Amino acid sequence: MANTRRIFVVGGSGFVGRAICNTALARGWEVLSLSRHGAPDRSTMARSNLSAHLANDVKWIKGDALRPETFREHLAGCEAVVHSVGVLMENGYKSLVNLGSHNSAYRASTATYESANRDTALCVAHVARETPGVKAFAYISASDTLPFLDPRYISTKREVERELLAHKDQLRPILLRPSFMFSPARPLTLPIAAGVEAFRTLFHRTPIGCVLKSTPFAKAAVPALRRELVAEAVINAISNPQVSGVLEISDIERIGKSHQ
Ligand SMILES: NC(=O)c1ccc[n+]([C@@H]2O[C@H](COP(=O)([O-])OP(=O)(O)OC[C@H]3O[C@@H](n4cnc5c(N)ncnc54)[C@H](OP(=O)(O)O)[C@@H]3O)[C@@H](O)[C@H]2O)c1
Repeated sequence: MANTRRIFVVGGSGFVGRAICNTALARGWEVLSLSRHGAPDRSTMARSNLSAHLANDVKWIKGDALRPETFREHLAGCEAVVHSVGVLMENGYKSLVNLGSHNSAYRASTATYESANRDTALCVAHVARETPGVKAFAYISASDTLPFLDPRYISTKREVERELLAHKDQLRPILLRPSFMFSPARPLTLPIAAGVEAFRTLFHRTPIGCVLKSTPFAKAAVPALRRELVAEAVINAISNPQVSGVLEISDIERIGKSHQ
């Protein structure tokens, strides 16, 4: 296994992180995941529509992205890092989104936008830059498409993007800005994705769109993304040294489909 490429996924036990781990494994990477609780519990894995081997084949590390001493040693030998940690709302909304879904063990979080979206990424990126051999850092940022969301959700993401771009000579930054992601693994995401599609039709194909154009809802008229497509985009982008910088929704769709 001396030539196996190794990838470090921060938040690999989460909704998006699991799909990234799954895709990386399928492409022959050795996969390490960092999260505070380590391995996700097996009952939730069984319902997450991913490879049955995921639970066994990923090396699940228990640690905190805000505490370098809990993960620094594991970065040695890794070629790429993916950061897939963040909160959309600060009040533990995911305990609602996850009701009855794959992640019944989800624990309500007290994380802030600053600590979860920004500081975890800056901390891991700092350690990654100090670790010889780490070449690429993929950050799951977000598109600014949700009306009425606290602006700090996006501003903290953009702060990380700027910081990673400022160090692009040391670590190739891959800054993905996905819209809402859906998967049968989180059943509640499916009707939301269907609602997004219905809204887009209304917006782009009916006269109502003209009225909506001047409202805060206009920015929401973008496609929702399949979680697995985003995961493919992450691994394809890491595997292609030409890919660097911000990837908007259309870039993610294109790169996600680019694997030969
Ligand atoms: N879901 C979407 O539709 C969507 C859309 C656009 C952008 N995004 C972005 O995608 C990223 C991932 O979202 P998600 O929905 O997959 O979130 P998620 O399901 O809540 O997963 C978050 C992951 O991060 C881990 N984590 C949290 N705090 C940590 C810490 N201090 N140290 C180490 N690990 C930590 C969690 O595990 P532990 O709790 O065990 O630590 C979990 O593995 C976020 O940045 C989000 O903003 C998501």
